[in-house]
Amino acid sequence: MSRKIQEHKLFEIYQEARGKRIFTKSILPGITHFDERILRDKSDEYREFDPKRSKLAAMIMKGCTNMGIRKDNVILYLGSSHGYTPSFVSDIVGEDGLIFGIDPAPRVMRDFVFLAEKRKNLVPILADANHPEQYQDKICQADIVYQDVAQRNQADIFIRNCQLYLKKGGYGLLAVKARSIDIKKKPKQIFIEIRTQLDKIFTVIDYKTLDPFEKDHCLIIIKK
Ligand SMILES: C[S@@+](CC[C@H](N)C(=O)[O-])C[C@H]1O[C@@H](n2cnc3c(N)ncnc32)[C@H](O)[C@@H]1O
Repeated sequence: MSRKIQEHKLFEIYQEARGKRIFTKSILPGITHFDERILRDKSDEYREFDPKRSKLAAMIMKGCTNMGIRKDNVILYLGSSHGYTPSFVSDIVGEDGLIFGIDPAPRVMRDFVFLAEKRKNLVPILADANHPEQYQDKICQADIVYQDVAQRNQADIFIRNCQLYLKKGGYGLLAVKARSIDIKKKPKQIFIEIRTQLDKIFTVIDYKTLDPFEKDHCLIIIKK
């Protein structure tokens, strides 16, 4: 590995400039999807993971020490959108991992389907995470539930999906957008309330606000 790119303390994450920029090792060298910057080292290619575009990348930049995601994991990804973050999770879990991407918006799902044609570990599912029972015949139990949906009942959607699909011992990552829940309440108050709610059912293992990358957002990691 060149001096330029080095292993990060988190599994399957790489860094440049002492962690100022983070990368994943591409499972599809030669192809970029989002105009991301590429670093090459012999035959390997590393894709820059931008914390201004991804709450997961922001969480890593904020010093998360265990995001739970490992090679070969099965991920239930709620709010997969065009697939920016899922494409990096696709590198992290590798070719033998699997990511079920759930999103009810046909316009973004169209892009995700094109991405999944190239990245074979992505499985697009046009569905609403508010109704997890509707995709039970399409998915299996997951090692990770990752959620990034700007809905008023974000915590409730996350809890129901974790109860149905997260394996015991698996990790759940919830990106919380305070403004979608209550614009009058202080974001910090909302974060504390959701964290307390989750801690009654699961074990909260990490919590970080995502500023300066994302204003009024936090990411909470639980273990089931
Ligand atoms: C902020 S974007 C997600 C960005 C994505 N996580 C990334 O980092 O690349 C939020 C997505 O949540 C989706 N969404 C909203 N309500 C949803 C629901 N009830 N179930 C699943 N997805 C939903 C939206 O269609 C949108 O694509």
